[in-house]
Amino acid sequence: MLELRDITRAYELGGERAGVFGVSIEVPRGCLAVIAGPSGSGKTTLLQVAGLLDSPDEGEVRLDGEPVSRLPEKARCDLRLRRLGFVFQAFNLVPVLSALENVMLPLQLQGLAEPEARKRAEAALDRVGLADRRHHRPGQLIGGQQQRVAIARALAPEPLLVLADEPTASLDHAHGGPLMDLMADLARERGTAFLVASHDPAVIARAHRVFRLADGRLVEAP
Ligand SMILES: Nc1ncnc2c1ncn2[C@@H]1O[C@H](COP(=O)(O)OP(=O)(O)OP(=O)(O)O)[C@@H](O)[C@H]1O
Ligand SMILES: [Mg+2]
Repeated sequence: MLELRDITRAYELGGERAGVFGVSIEVPRGCLAVIAGPSGSGKTTLLQVAGLLDSPDEGEVRLDGEPVSRLPEKARCDLRLRRLGFVFQAFNLVPVLSALENVMLPLQLQGLAEPEARKRAEAALDRVGLADRRHHRPGQLIGGQQQRVAIARALAPEPLLVLADEPTASLDHAHGGPLMDLMADLARERGTAFLVASHDPAVIARAHRVFRLADGRLVEAP
């Protein structure tokens, strides 16, 4: 499903080279994969390349066997909208919109008509256990619920791959495990692949595959 082949993305920092170097990983359908590693080890850098938000200096990203990292920005943007889902640490929900309207947003950007977008967004919120909170705004929800809205929003367009950067970082410890359990269930039910960057032990413990980075290099892979 997702293949990163020999990815290098380097930053010059005061004469020092930082980033990721020669990293290859594979995430098949239905797999909940975690990129682990200490702060500064390159997790976010790698996730941005995998999510087509950034281009590698060397190497290639393949989605369903197709090389995609060197496509023009317009084509990459289209792939992000149609094939990828994103969950961010700070959730990035729109504060003035209800949970339902937040989940509808990417569906409407894809061109779905309002009634169909509403139906699919309601089903997604139902799936994450938030049907009864759909008219609440993010500020009226607790952190764990906001994170589940973010997951419903990422999942509603039925992406091939969901990328999540430290999705449990702003939750307290009690929520990290259940959030991963939900992603594992979704991976199994729909065949969606998940690539999660995290140093949370509760997240790493539930991964199907763990890729460990240190100083931008892969030091452990399944
Ligand atoms: N835009 C950038 N410009 C310069 N250096 C960068 C940039 N982004 C990342 N780096 C450097 O690349 C290295 C990897 O950073 P990255 O953010 O990928 O690590 P991380 O594993 O996500 O860390 P954290 O756990 O703190 O989120 C770090 O040394 C960082 O300073
Ligand atoms: Mg990071």
